Amino acid sequence: IKYYKTVDSTNNAAKKAALEDAAEGTVIVSEAQGSGRGRIGRGWFSPSQKGIWFSIILRPQFLPQEAPKCTLMAAVAITKAISAITGVTVGIKWPNDILYNGKKLVGILTEMNAEMDRINYIIIGMGVNVNISEQDMPADIGQIATSLLQITGAKVSRASLLAQILLELERAYYDIKQYGFSTILAEWKKYSVTLGNNVKVISVNETFYGKAIDIDDYGALLIDTGKKVVRVLAGDVSIRSAK
Ligand code: BTN
Repeated sequence: IKYYKTVDSTNNAAKKAALEDAAEGTVIVSEAQGSGRGRIGRGWFSPSQKGIWFSIILRPQFLPQEAPKCTLMAAVAITKAISAITGVTVGIKWPNDILYNGKKLVGILTEMNAEMDRINYIIIGMGVNVNISEQDMPADIGQIATSLLQITGAKVSRASLLAQILLELERAYYDIKQYGFSTILAEWKKYSVTLGNNVKVISVNETFYGKAIDIDDYGALLIDTGKKVVRVLAGDVSIRSAK
């Protein structure tokens, strides 16, 4: 575990370490991030000592197209760790948001370096809003995000939660390597707040509507548009109505 007071982004620091041959399982954790990154070029609010901002380096023997499995695995591990440490039940919105009452509690940013047939490394970056009060959050972020402090009314030990997340991640990763992806996939489905809902999908080339009916063995979301079933590997999904 490499610990920092501040970095620009733990994903950037992890990428640098991975290129310098850091071992699988290396964790970069920082009290603060100057330029925390979210998906699709967004930023990530990372105030000092108020959250868990970390990235882990994996070198799985998956094919590059199987990389989304890592994001789903991380989402399951974090969901279980949050429940174990705080008793809070959260939901997973495909592919990478952990939500509580529709507000974002955790974001996951998975990045990889690969060739056509092999992954050199995968960085899974996770941001957990732990002890951020409502006053600490800029108003625009407060509209869409929450924290464990805001949910439970009490401070949560970031060290205990990080230790539990790493434990759950390790368990899930070894489980996948030994027995395949099916157990994690089943758990992901159990915690999903996306499946069964009507959704709007903004993918690379198009925006469309449909019902999220399943995810396949590669972690792709299957959307029934009424005319056909579309397989979505990357994109943004917003949930439009209850089941
Ligand atoms: C998202 O939901 O858009 C993903 C957010 C991921 C944020 C985490 S914080 C630790 C790691 N370092 C970063 O720069 N981003 C990820």
